[in-house]
Amino acid sequence: MLFDGTTFRILDQTLLPHQQKWLICNDTETLIDIISRLAIRGAPAIGLSASILLAILAEQGEGQQELLKKAETLKAVRPTAVNVINNVDEMISALQSRNYIEAAVATAEKLYEEDVQLCRNIAKLGAAIIRPGEKILTHCNTGSLATAGCGTAMGILAEAQQCYGDIFVWVDETRPLLQGGRLTAWECGILGISHSIICDSTAALLMQQGDVDRIFVGSDRIAVNGDFANKIGTYSLAVLAKYHSIPFYVAAPLTTVDPNCPAASEIPLEMRDECEVKGVNTSTGRCSWCPPESPAYNPAFDITPAELVTAWILDTGVFTRSELGKPHWWKNKKGQDGQPVKFL
Ligand code: MRU
Repeated sequence: MLFDGTTFRILDQTLLPHQQKWLICNDTETLIDIISRLAIRGAPAIGLSASILLAILAEQGEGQQELLKKAETLKAVRPTAVNVINNVDEMISALQSRNYIEAAVATAEKLYEEDVQLCRNIAKLGAAIIRPGEKILTHCNTGSLATAGCGTAMGILAEAQQCYGDIFVWVDETRPLLQGGRLTAWECGILGISHSIICDSTAALLMQQGDVDRIFVGSDRIAVNGDFANKIGTYSLAVLAKYHSIPFYVAAPLTTVDPNCPAASEIPLEMRDECEVKGVNTSTGRCSWCPPESPAYNPAFDITPAELVTAWILDTGVFTRSELGKPHWWKNKKGQDGQPVKFL
């Protein structure tokens, strides 16, 4: 995302890695289209794009009531990720104040800077779990394209690579738009991480062969009981990891934990168009390989039950299952000096 004082630009992730095209986004209708097409995606990045646009519109003189209406429309675009709702809710509070323009700008800036710091904390806590030379599997894209900072699961891999210089990453290609094969692989290349792209269904074979040491994924919403929603295919990885006794970690900011969501059944799962399963439409062109009359079923996310998770790596600490039962486990685990505490 870029803002030069007049124009807000968003990098079109559907065209990466082959084309770097910046989309101009000066109104909420355009942002809704950009988010719906996954031209910007990743829970934190979507939330930040919404808050930044609302701040820009406030600064450009849009009326308070109109801004509040627009904020509500942005909340519904991608229903699974709680970050969008959280960010927009914070913007709504700012927009309701007397000095709503200054408040909106300050809130959007704060949310952006916070995300950079949250990613840093997650990266440090998670990288400490990895050992030199390990082979890690990751799903979807959770890197700097998906956040304001170094990413969540991907930030951990970047940090581990910086510490040891010799980690290896299996990159699940990931439906619906091959976010792993296109975006994570691209980021691995930039970060100098040895990697190989695999079809999602290859993960089982690799685990059976002993070629996966750990799995790190991101999340779009974590329920209070530790169940979490993430990109479709995450649940099958977690089941496979359990069968093969491979540690399986979820990395996300504390803000991804939804205190209003007691368990997975409360998390809404986004459905997407069947054309994303029956063909592709990316920078390399458009093609369809299925009989046009055959229907397709295309949920964007699935739910992984807490019992399959080894640990939740939040910016405030690393939580194991035994801590989930404790009251308000998700709220704060900072040490006395305000620094995140490592619990593993
Ligand atoms: O549909 P997407 O590409 O927005 O889904 C992204 C994911 O599932 C990520 O794992 C999640 O948003 C966390 S990104 C830091």
